[in-house]
Amino acid sequence: MLEVNNLKIFFAGQETLKGISFKILKGSTYALVGESGSGKSITCAAILGLLPSNAKTEGEIVFDSVNLLSEPAKQRFYRGRKLAYIPQNPTASLNPIKTVYAHLAETIKAHKPELAQSQIADYCKEILLSLQLKNWEKVLKSYPFELSGGMCQRILIGLALIPDPEIILADEPTTALDVTIQAEIMSLLLEKTKAQNLTLLLITHDLALVAQSCEYISVLREGQICETGKVKEIFADPKHEYTNCLLQAF
Ligand SMILES: Nc1ncnc2c1ncn2[C@@H]1O[C@H](COP(=O)(O)OP(=O)(O)O)[C@@H](O)[C@H]1O
Ligand SMILES: [Mg+2]
Repeated sequence: MLEVNNLKIFFAGQETLKGISFKILKGSTYALVGESGSGKSITCAAILGLLPSNAKTEGEIVFDSVNLLSEPAKQRFYRGRKLAYIPQNPTASLNPIKTVYAHLAETIKAHKPELAQSQIADYCKEILLSLQLKNWEKVLKSYPFELSGGMCQRILIGLALIPDPEIILADEPTTALDVTIQAEIMSLLLEKTKAQNLTLLLITHDLALVAQSCEYISVLREGQICETGKVKEIFADPKHEYTNCLLQAF
């Protein structure tokens, strides 16, 4: 589904990501873990084509038999269509001057142009109910600042799924949320992933979350992958000292 080969990222000539490789199988759940600053978010940004302009890349990111790094126009096309992105800070990721309805309707019109205005309204209701937002009428009229972080993250998950993506890249999707809400949002994300047979790349530093939700893992440290494999096997018997330390720490 997605193959990263010897990916390097440089900032001001300095090699920050030092040649990482991993392969995500279709329909699988893959965790990229590591402490803060290890290079998780820049890897995700490289896949999506969202690195800042001062970043230089080397290597390959192959999706749909296309090396996204050498085909930026295709990468832009895939982003928000086949490649869905769930960001870390849900409240800041929605437009503060647009209602939830405006967000949803804009995305629906862009990706499902065949739908008439009345069908869009029905579709919005259906989406909010599927996100377990039962007071959907009120939510549709709300602005992001009137909603909790968890509600905003539900909306972002809904928005990301409208184009029928193939893979979801979720960069610390629950880190900004209250602990009690984190589990609900994760189970919603996993339920959607399973129901629509999607592939999930979950970026996190939360190993408990990985144990509950992912099949495969790569452990990133200072821009390099130090261990990779099946979650069950690595958690039972970590081969690398650093993975061991991470497991001890949680
Ligand atoms: N815009 C930038 N300019 C220079 N260096 C950056 C930039 N963004 C990230 N970095 C460097 O990349 C490293 C990895 O960052 P990041 O991927 O955000 O870490 P994390 O694993 O916490 O998500 C950081 O330590 C930082 O030094
Ligand atoms: Mg990050």
